[in-house]
Amino acid sequence: MNRIMMVDSNNRKINYLRLSITDRCNLRCMYCMPEDGIEFLPHDKILSYEEILRIVQLATYRGIRKVRLTGGEPLVRKGFTDFLKSMSEIEGLEEISITTNGVLLKQYAAEIKACGVTRLNISLDSLKPEKFKMITGRDYFHQVWEGIQEAERLGFAPIKLNVVAIKGINDDEIEAFGRLTLEKPYHIRFIEQMPIGGNNWNSDKFISILEIYERLQNVGPLVSIERRNSLDGPAQRYKIENAKGEIGLIGALSNHFCDVCNRLRLTADGHLRSCLFSETELDAMPLLREGKNDEEIIALIEKAIHEKPERHNLQNQGQRSCTRQMSSIGG
Ligand code: GTP
Ligand code: 5AD
Ligand code: SF4
Repeated sequence: MNRIMMVDSNNRKINYLRLSITDRCNLRCMYCMPEDGIEFLPHDKILSYEEILRIVQLATYRGIRKVRLTGGEPLVRKGFTDFLKSMSEIEGLEEISITTNGVLLKQYAAEIKACGVTRLNISLDSLKPEKFKMITGRDYFHQVWEGIQEAERLGFAPIKLNVVAIKGINDDEIEAFGRLTLEKPYHIRFIEQMPIGGNNWNSDKFISILEIYERLQNVGPLVSIERRNSLDGPAQRYKIENAKGEIGLIGALSNHFCDVCNRLRLTADGHLRSCLFSETELDAMPLLREGKNDEEIIALIEKAIHEKPERHNLQNQGQRSCTRQMSSIGG
């Protein structure tokens, strides 16, 4: 089949597919799950690995070159390393990466590496075990830290650490995370907390990347780094002078990057979403399960790309703008 590079109706090249392979998770982050908990999807409502691989393969015919596995927590789904291996054999994919919370990383890092994955994004909102437990609901700081060390030892690069910044909770650690880049080759990415899926977002707890940028100046002068290529993500990149690592600032709210957004998403239950915050999704599961042919599934992928909204309007719509849980979309 021919490969076609696709642009959406706003002329953005869509080349990056984020795959949520499960909505389940072994953490309960305060900004992700609602306080009263959530119900996870039953097994038959989740795409099988074969179904996901079919979509990925067909998406490569419509310009997808980069795939990121997300969750929930992707490492909790049984058989994910075999799935990764099969995905690494799909022609046309240039990059496969994973966003993980790191809890099971020590155990799986070597297998992940053997599948050809070299880039990892790991969530880490605090460098203090007690604070980590408060934010994530689980006492796994040391396990995650060991997972990060193991990934570094095995040569994963870059290792990006995602810090969701929350005022009054972990903003006292902004400088400490900055200093970590002096010693370690990690890319520390500060992310503005987004209102999504009833996560109790509250403007009092919001810190903008501008404020974080200013706080980081206490560690040393920040030097800006240019975007490298069209597969680069939304972070504005900086380096503190003489640091081994980098700083990334992700202004999910204050400085949205919709103009250069190159993403499409597939949820664990088989919906194609062209915007993290939109309520519009296209259900691919019936097509897959009713034995539709490749052309019909490709037509759905094309439709999702064409209908990608121009931008999110989160600042004005607040909490109402996305009712789906973050854990079922995967960020
Ligand atoms: P790379 O740059 O390829 O490493 O990927 P990434 O930064 O997109 O991946 P990651 O999964 O680490 O996501 C980082 C943060 O960016 C998360 O908090 C996401 O929720 C947020 N994010 C990812 N995609 C979007 C998006 O399309 N819109 C907005 N507003 N935020 C996003
Ligand atoms: N706002 C910003 N980032 C979030 N993440 C999860 N929920 C939110 C939110 N409400 C982050 C996680 C993970 C990434 C995929 O998304 O910390 O690193
Ligand atoms: Fe799990 Fe990620 Fe949500 Fe935390 S943010 S509960 S690690 S899915």
